[in-house]
Amino acid sequence: MRKMLIAGNWKMHMTAGETEQFFREFMASLRQPPFREALGRSRLEVALFPPFTSLYVAAFALEEAPRGFSLGAQTVHWETHGAFTGEISPAMVEESGCRYCLVGHSERRHLFGETDEMTNLKVRALLATSLRPVLCVGETLAERERGETFTVVRRQLLKGLESVPAHRLGQDVVVAYEPVWAIGTGKTASDDDAQEVCHFLRSVVGDQLGAEGAESLRVLYGGSVKAENSAGLMARPDIDGALVGGASLKSDSFLAILRESL
Ligand code: G3H
Repeated sequence: MRKMLIAGNWKMHMTAGETEQFFREFMASLRQPPFREALGRSRLEVALFPPFTSLYVAAFALEEAPRGFSLGAQTVHWETHGAFTGEISPAMVEESGCRYCLVGHSERRHLFGETDEMTNLKVRALLATSLRPVLCVGETLAERERGETFTVVRRQLLKGLESVPAHRLGQDVVVAYEPVWAIGTGKTASDDDAQEVCHFLRSVVGDQLGAEGAESLRVLYGGSVKAENSAGLMARPDIDGALVGGASLKSDSFLAILRESL
């Protein structure tokens, strides 16, 4: 059975001081029922993706974190080191206490020109360390209206996973379907639409890389997820969790989503 993963991507929010405050409240709640039991029984995994400048504060706050809680980074460079001003290597992310790293988030693709080739280099660089990539895919509104959703997400998925051996899927790679038109807009994909694309992504992996990898691969949905819509999405058979943006910035709203997912 696939373990549910609820991930919070803070994007460019939260200073180190704000992070410290968030974790004080959040960790106190995670140690209480019903979260303590759910995390302990390994039914649920929770991850937060703070900005780089908050990772050390977060890792420090997590020294006594409950099992099933992880940190992640929002992006990474694919080279191990060198003259790449402003970039962060996989080893740096790893040493900051992270288990996961986002790759190919739509804001990286559309605002910073990240291509499928770059996402693939990042996925492979992460897999050379202990880090697990969360590969994000999703169509724009124009692409959806042209009926290109499945073509676009298939291409992003297969290019992103190029040369990744089938046995590394499942345990080591997470896929997140985030329709660009649903991100930060308050418009969520319907449960049916999200399920349909997540099922499609799993079947593409199955066709290309084998049924076993596809069955164990976790596919998340992201795009305006909040407590009010999360239970319906999470109940769908091919949706194994959520990638939450805005609603992960406040301890209360993120905990409310976690509660709905138990
Ligand atoms: O990574 C998270 C997504 O971009 C979703 O953001 O929940 O604010 O729409 P949102």
